[in-house]
Amino acid sequence: MGKLLGWSEIELELEQLESQELRRKLHVVRSPQDSYVIRGSQRLLSFCSNDYLGLANHPEIIGALRQGARLYGVGAGGSHLVCGHMQPHVELEQALSECVGQEASLLFGSGYLANLGIMGALASRHTTFFADRLNHASLNEGALLLRAKLVRYQHMNLSQLSRLMSLEKNRQKIVATDAVFSMDGDRAPLEELSGLCAEHDAWLIVDDAHGFGLLNAGRGSLYGTRLATDQIVYMATLSKALGGYGAFVAGRQILIDYLVQKAKSYIYTTAMPPAMAYAMCHALQVATMAHEKREHLSRLIQVFREGASTLGWELLPSDTPIQPVMMQTSKRAMILYNRLLERGVLVPAIRPPTVAQARLRVSLSAAHTNEDVLKLLEVLDGLLKRE
Ligand SMILES: Cc1ncc(COP(=O)(O)O)c(C=O)c1O
Repeated sequence: MGKLLGWSEIELELEQLESQELRRKLHVVRSPQDSYVIRGSQRLLSFCSNDYLGLANHPEIIGALRQGARLYGVGAGGSHLVCGHMQPHVELEQALSECVGQEASLLFGSGYLANLGIMGALASRHTTFFADRLNHASLNEGALLLRAKLVRYQHMNLSQLSRLMSLEKNRQKIVATDAVFSMDGDRAPLEELSGLCAEHDAWLIVDDAHGFGLLNAGRGSLYGTRLATDQIVYMATLSKALGGYGAFVAGRQILIDYLVQKAKSYIYTTAMPPAMAYAMCHALQVATMAHEKREHLSRLIQVFREGASTLGWELLPSDTPIQPVMMQTSKRAMILYNRLLERGVLVPAIRPPTVAQARLRVSLSAAHTNEDVLKLLEVLDGLLKRE
């Protein structure tokens, strides 16, 4: 039997992480999330958050949150099945299903909880779970907890996926993919993936955390796609383009009914604060009408990509607001991260093991102006000249 972890082992492990420069640190932001944030004592131009439409600090949505709290209070008081299922939840679920073109939807506390819930409901240890290597960690978490067989395929390598699926003939199969990959910004070939799933009688879970609110006029990655199977589970978060908190699963009514019975991370947790659900109804309306914001964001993406590649930075093939600037080493990523900070610009350095290759993860938002992006490019240019 393994020895129980004691205080000295915990201390040792923290020291080891520190000495390897792998200890994660928290930084306090003292302002709302916006193009500029106050972090500690510094005012920083931020290319850090997933607030792609700039709704996290939107006056109308702040007003809706206030109004929601006045009408329904702050807390839900219980789980959905006990007493916490409230009018704003129902209205938000209806609006979300309509928006993404699915029969029904179900709210979860967060994207992490939604992914756990889907897996717990659909999979067992008899399931083989196929995951793109670059999927978000929360998609794999459910498979690991359930002791399902986890098979990771190379990023978007569908011929490898097909071969691997053929090897699992007599097992239940689930394929999971980010629709927009959170660290690379590229998009999964959903139609082709659905074709493979149809061929192998597999379920397809699509995590659209970074596509919902942006792609297909904000209706998300699946909207308008020709799918070859109806064994599809769509998941998206309210914490990125909608600027709030929470997540939802959408699909056939029968799937949603099943999740209400089986998804433990839905059943055994308090419902989302009703004021947040009320505010998210409003955020959804703003997001679906935000065509100008999306157009502005597309122009910023273009300006950044053209500028950064002209300067000689290595980018990835992404047409989304996630624009990684690739680094040869983690050390260089950290040096450049700190130099950007000295110049008042916040761009997170993402390093292995989170990603295979270190990078500065630039994320753009409709809250940025053209000048903000030009400032980032000017600072990046200055860094190259200094090296
Ligand atoms: C692709 C993806 N899925 C799921 C999540 C988890 O969502 P949430 O932050 O709502 O828990 C995230 C990010 O946080 C993500 O990037």
